[in-house]
Amino acid sequence: MTEPRSKARLVILISGRGSNMRSIVEAASKNELAVDIAAVISNRPDAAGLEFAQQAGINTEVIDHKQFDSRERFDSAMAEAIDAYQPDFVILAGFMRILTADFVEHYSGRLLNIHPSLLPKFKGLHTHERAIEAGETEHGASVHFVTAELDDGPVILQARVPVLPDDDADTLAARVLEQEHLLYPAAIQKLVSQQTE
Ligand code: GRF
Repeated sequence: MTEPRSKARLVILISGRGSNMRSIVEAASKNELAVDIAAVISNRPDAAGLEFAQQAGINTEVIDHKQFDSRERFDSAMAEAIDAYQPDFVILAGFMRILTADFVEHYSGRLLNIHPSLLPKFKGLHTHERAIEAGETEHGASVHFVTAELDDGPVILQARVPVLPDDDADTLAARVLEQEHLLYPAAIQKLVSQQTE
């Protein structure tokens, strides 16, 4: 018989800066989040977040989407790499690839994303510009389960910020990002504590 695991295992997928990944790693290292981070995987060799993860002693891998001639082949290489770590949850943290329905189905109920809007508002890109243009007085971020429809799965937690009269997309994005860094660890902790109840 295998021993029950004490902590949930995460694999985090990034494409760039990786500041959300960093907030999760830091929350885990301060024991605010009861998880083991098994690996950080990037689809871009130049993702800035890789260096932080390496310095934190986390396994890193690059699976460069440009080396694959179809989305299906890229996704199956990703799934093979991810599954080698046997994660409880797969965390998309600024991972900028559309995933195939097969991939999403394979991780059903354990694939999470953070999106910079109060879903279901402003799915897709340029959310901060669009929130300002729409005259919103409130904006924010959502952590949600990933389903086959883009930015559409059930919301786990949201964080709200005001939209101020002088805001441009950059100032609003910075206010939202600060909240994202609290929101993602909190949403993961919510799921992990449900798992162990
Ligand atoms: C964040 O704003 C996140 O909500 C969106 O992409 C951005 C990623 O930033 N999905 P980072 O790579 O985590 O710094």
